[in-house]
Amino acid sequence: MQKLLAQPGFLAPSGTFGADLSYLLAVLFTVMFLFAWGLAKKGLGTQHHKLIFVSMVSMLIYFIGYYYARQLGVLTLEGKEGFGGPLDVYENIFLPTLTTHLVLVCLGLILSIYMIFQGFRACDKIEGDYILQSRELRSNPKIFKYTMAILGGVWAANQLILTFIRQKSFAASLAWAIIFGVIALVIYLEKFIEKALPDGANRHRILGRVTMVIFALILVTSTLVYLMLYVIYPKI
Ligand code: HEM
Repeated sequence: MQKLLAQPGFLAPSGTFGADLSYLLAVLFTVMFLFAWGLAKKGLGTQHHKLIFVSMVSMLIYFIGYYYARQLGVLTLEGKEGFGGPLDVYENIFLPTLTTHLVLVCLGLILSIYMIFQGFRACDKIEGDYILQSRELRSNPKIFKYTMAILGGVWAANQLILTFIRQKSFAASLAWAIIFGVIALVIYLEKFIEKALPDGANRHRILGRVTMVIFALILVTSTLVYLMLYVIYPKI
């Protein structure tokens, strides 16, 4: 697998197969999401939901595969290896763009998972079609507590596996702790979101648009990172 990913790429002369494939897939998923936005704008709620679902599942499979194959590209953050340009461009342009990209990817992933649940809660299925309902949408306090408890349990189990079975570094545990912490924060934020945007349909439209804009920005930043790494400043 590693060998295949390291083969020469097909998009830019100095790209690798892995980089080109992941870039193309990232473009494909983002375009699918943006297309799903177009469907929602046309009032095609059910098609919108189906396309979001397919995009989300394929994107998650891709992320998991990518994580195992290339360690999430985090290596790029660790040093200047792989970047062929001057140090000031690396520090002042490349690193901020890459960091923004990674932050947006995390935000986009979290928000889209949130939005899928929110979408189902905010809709009624009427004659086979999902229709957003203008009504106050609040989470049940009991379900809220259970969700937090389950999340804490999953984090603890994952931490035990990381420490005792996979014997991963402290950095890996920290990364996972941040991931779980952010998910807990998002669930907790729901309380504030409920107050700020009590109407479920309105909440779906506003936060959905924010999510879609984040996806568009992911496309822009991943293109910039790709261009800088493999077209403008390739490592010779
Ligand atoms: C990542 C997840 C999702 C995102 C980012 C998202 C985003 C959006 C956005 C931006 C709109 C408003 C379009 C506009 O007026 O600009 C919208 C509308 C809508 N969404 Fe979603 N959505 C998601 C998931 C879902 C799910 C899971 C369902 C159903 C179960 C759903 C059902 C609907 C419906 C019915 C509308 C209204 C379409 C209309 O105006 O008739 N969405 N969504």
